[in-house]
This record gives sequence, C-alpha cells and structure tokens, in this order.
Amino acid sequence: MLKGKKIVLGVTGGIAAYKAAELVRELVRRGANVRVIMTDNACRFVTPLTFEILSGNPVATDLFRATGNFEIGHIALAEFAEMVVIAPATANLIGRMAAGLADDLLTTVLLATEAPVLLCPAMNDKMYANSAVQENLSRLVSRGHAVLEPGYGELACRAEGQGRLAEPLEIVEEIESILTVKNLRDERILVTAGPTQEPFDPVRFISNHSSGKMGYALAVMARRRGAAVTLISGPTALPMPRGVTFVPVGTAVEMRDAVLERLDGVTVVIKAAAVADYRPAVCEAMKIKKKGASMTVLLERNPDIISEIALQKGDRILVGFSMESDHLLEYARTKLMGKGMDFIVANDVTEPGAGFRGDTNIVRILDREGGVEALPRMDKMDVAGVILDRVRKIRENGRIPDGR
Ligand code: PMT
Repeated sequence: MLKGKKIVLGVTGGIAAYKAAELVRELVRRGANVRVIMTDNACRFVTPLTFEILSGNPVATDLFRATGNFEIGHIALAEFAEMVVIAPATANLIGRMAAGLADDLLTTVLLATEAPVLLCPAMNDKMYANSAVQENLSRLVSRGHAVLEPGYGELACRAEGQGRLAEPLEIVEEIESILTVKNLRDERILVTAGPTQEPFDPVRFISNHSSGKMGYALAVMARRRGAAVTLISGPTALPMPRGVTFVPVGTAVEMRDAVLERLDGVTVVIKAAAVADYRPAVCEAMKIKKKGASMTVLLERNPDIISEIALQKGDRILVGFSMESDHLLEYARTKLMGKGMDFIVANDVTEPGAGFRGDTNIVRILDREGGVEALPRMDKMDVAGVILDRVRKIRENGRIPDGR
C-alpha cells in the first residue's frame, strides 16, 4: 500500500527523535519514498546523517538551503508530499502550527502543503495535559489534521504518564489508514478471529493452530477503509489492533455469546475464527492426575455460531471461511449453502503458504451463484482487501442474496 508513496517526515526536537529513525526504516521497508525535514533542535538529538542513510534521500534542515539543492525548496517539498507526518511533534511545534507560524523549514512546508498531516505528539505528561497544548491540538484537528495520541508509560523525565511517542508500527498503521480510500464508511463489521480453547481441566485444553492473522488482517483493513469494526478474538499472540472494539474470548460458547450480544446494528459478519466443533463434555475443577496407560476425554458438539447468525441474517452480509485438508471446493460449497453465507473463503491447510500461522494465504472464493475465484498466494492483508472488495460489490449492487 505504501509502495511509491511520497512521505515527508518532520522530526522535531525531543528525545523520541531516535524512534523516528525506526519509523523511517519501516516506511522504506514498505516501499515509501521518505524525505525527512529536521528542526534545529531535532539535530541536537539525532544527526541528519542517520535519516539520510535510512531514507536514502538528502535530509532538509534549513529553510534557505533545503537539502542543499535549490530546486528542492520548501514549496517543492510541500508539493512532493502525499502525506506529512510529524514524529515526534513537540509542544513547541504544535503551538507554532496552531498559530499558523512559518518561521523554519518544517512549519513553512506545513503551511504550504495540501497533503494530509499526521501529528504524533511526544512530551512530558504534564505538558501534554496542559490546556494550552490540548487547545492547540483541538484547533489543529478542527483544521483537518490527524493526531495519533501518545501512549502511557515511563517517560524520558522518569515520570509515568501519557506522553510517549506512539510506537513506529502504530504510526505506520495510522499512515496506511489515512491514505486508504474510505469506501466502507457506512458499514459496521464484526470479525471473528483466532482459535477457541476448550478446557477439560484447569491446565489443559483442546484447540487448533490458528494464529488469528487472517481475522486480524480483516479487522485492520476494514478499519482502514472507514468501517466501524468489532473484533471478537480467541486467544492469540497478536497485539490488539488500534481503533477497533476488541472483545477477547476463550471458548466457542463465549465466542457465540459475544457475537450474538453484539449483532444488533452490525451490517457485515466475517467469520475467520477457527472454532472448535467439539468441546470436552466435562471440565474438571482440579487437574486430572495421570493414572492408566490411556485416557479418554468425551467431547460434545459446540454451537455452530455462523448458522445461528444466519437465522437472524436480515440485510447483513455474511462471510464464512472453510478450512479443509481435502475436497476443498466440495466441502466449502456445502458449508456456503448450508450455513446461509453470502460467500465463503476456502483455504486448504495442506497447501504450503495457505491457512494457519503464516503471513500468506491461498484462497478460493465461492459465491452462491456457483462462481469460484481462485487467488494466488497472497499476503493475508491483501486477501483481506479482496474479501472486503467483494463485500462492497454486494452492497453496491444492492443484492443481498437470501442467505438461507
Ligand atoms: O488464524 P490464522 O493462523 O491466520 O489462520 C487462518 C485460518 C486458517 C484459521 C482461516 O483462514 C480459516 O480458514 N478460518 C476458518 C476455520 C474454520 O473453522 O473453518 P471450518 O471449515 O471448520 O468452519 C466453517 C465456518 O464456520 C467458519 O467461518 C467458522 O468460523 C464457522 N464455524 C465453525 C464451527 C463452529 N462451531 N462455529 C462456526 O461459526
């Protein structure tokens, strides 16, 4: 998504300036063309050489000799930018922007650019809470600029509080989100992700290999496109995505209850979770001690969540997944028709690069009219994009097939 995107990064003078180096590295890794502007104070914390090497571009520090090339002045940088990011943004820079000042290269570019601007404040917690800073930020937001709030934690001044620069990956996610066309703004999308864990005593459970990556990719991409997203997730090692309503669950029954409780007002349901079909009939209160050479755990059926959603389908678009190790299309079609989905995304866990854990998937998308779209091996984020395109197409055509 960021491939070829022209991003101007303004670095101002705070201790968090060193984190901007990591941000540049990540943006460049994703293919962005990054130009860095440093204020005089930023140069006291990190040298321009650091950013020059990481971005592969000259670093601009001086209004009158921007990047040492007369062609690339402040207007040229303002026009070059498809997006301007300020990280870290100090209270001083925020104040000067709010006042409309243009007394150095960065503030001049900020006044001259028509690109979206993202501010990532970082400062002492009391400074951040100060009404002058908050009023300045509100003013900048009312002018259409985006603000990525600082995180809580230990600050450079050893205080604890809100003021830490957002993590580089969070900043990158916000940049991706701002640059994404908001074509799902009217949708409220509920995504399920990850495995369920079905315990049979306090230390053991039955589960599967789902990492949650497929479902989280759907939640992140849907949020980038402007949807209001609820992510109901079984236990995973993934960080909670920003900007979505996150509901952690353990068992299939908990997932079913969480989904049905939140179904009101939801316009799209995407069930990427790998739900255990069976659970132990009994969960012992105490750890089961080993006795004989073998042990039997009696299993009973879990509720079929997607079938229960289909009973209340209404105008909702219902998307299911099918995970198979054989007869992929045949089994997927049976689930599509039997479980009342609008379309189903089938993946074969035996195919290298598909299914559990990895960053890629290989899917076939089956619709109720008999169509099958076979996609090559793709990053799970891109697979999510294709699924959301389908959702949009169904909505645009005004065609909500009778899911039953
Ligand atoms: O999480 P990752 O590591 O990224 O892996 C991704 C994935 C392989 C888990 C994902 O791509 C996937 O295929 N998810 C669905 C797995 C699955 O449970 O498939 P199924 O064929 O058993 O179920 C069919 C559909 O019914 C699914 O949408 C499932 O969420 C739903 N279901 C299943 C059982 C049940 N009791 N309730 C359900 O709602």
